[in-house]
Amino acid sequence: MSLRHAFAAAALIAAAAPLFASPSLADRGGHDRDGAARPVTHAATLKECGQCHMAFPAALLPAAGWDRLMDTLPRHFGEDASLPAEVAADIRAYLTANAARRGDTDTIRITEQRWWLREHDFRPQIWERPHIRSKANCEACHDRAGQGVFEDE
Ligand code: HEC
Ligand code: HEC
Repeated sequence: MSLRHAFAAAALIAAAAPLFASPSLADRGGHDRDGAARPVTHAATLKECGQCHMAFPAALLPAAGWDRLMDTLPRHFGEDASLPAEVAADIRAYLTANAARRGDTDTIRITEQRWWLREHDFRPQIWERPHIRSKANCEACHDRAGQGVFEDE
């Protein structure tokens, strides 16, 4: 590959995955310096994975985590979240293609990722407040989580 082609290819990759353009992203678990994580834009994922909780941005979990999660949908945190095979394959492809480049792969929880625990090192009583109840209830504290905004407001 000529140098010019190599540059063109690099520019294409950067354009296709703007979230990963800065090295800080990989360090911070797929969200950038301003606390932004590209919201889900994939219709099937929004529909099927946004029923019981918000459709979590793909960039907040590494691909291995999404794979494991999609392998275990019939036993999804006490719920049966099974989907027809083609729908599941489509969602899996979207999530893994847009996943965090690194992260903890021994858990399928965003809320057990090291970066997440660092950002949310609060008094334990916080999680028992009636309007919060769960660490996974991002929208209780991040009004604009659905738009991918997690920064301090
Ligand atoms: C109890 C309230 C609460 C809940 C629930 C919560 N967060 Fe947060 N989160 C915070 C606070 C407070 C901060 C620190 C904000 C700051 O310093 O900019 C934070 C920081 C973050 C950041 C880093 C923002 C930055 O500026 O870099 C991300 C990303 C994030 N949260 C994602 C999530 C996700 C995803 C969920 C749900 C799975 C979640 N949070 C649930 C309160 C919460
Ligand atoms: C039938 C309801 C239901 C559906 C549908 C569902 N989930 Fe969940 N999901 C849950 C429950 C319940 C939890 C646990 C929430 C908690 O701990 O408060 C959860 C937790 C999660 C978590 C971990 C949150 C954390 O703590 O970091 C992820 C990631 C997740 N779901 C992704 C998905 C994806 C992807 C889909 C679509 C394929 C999906 N869910 C569909 C009910 C559902």
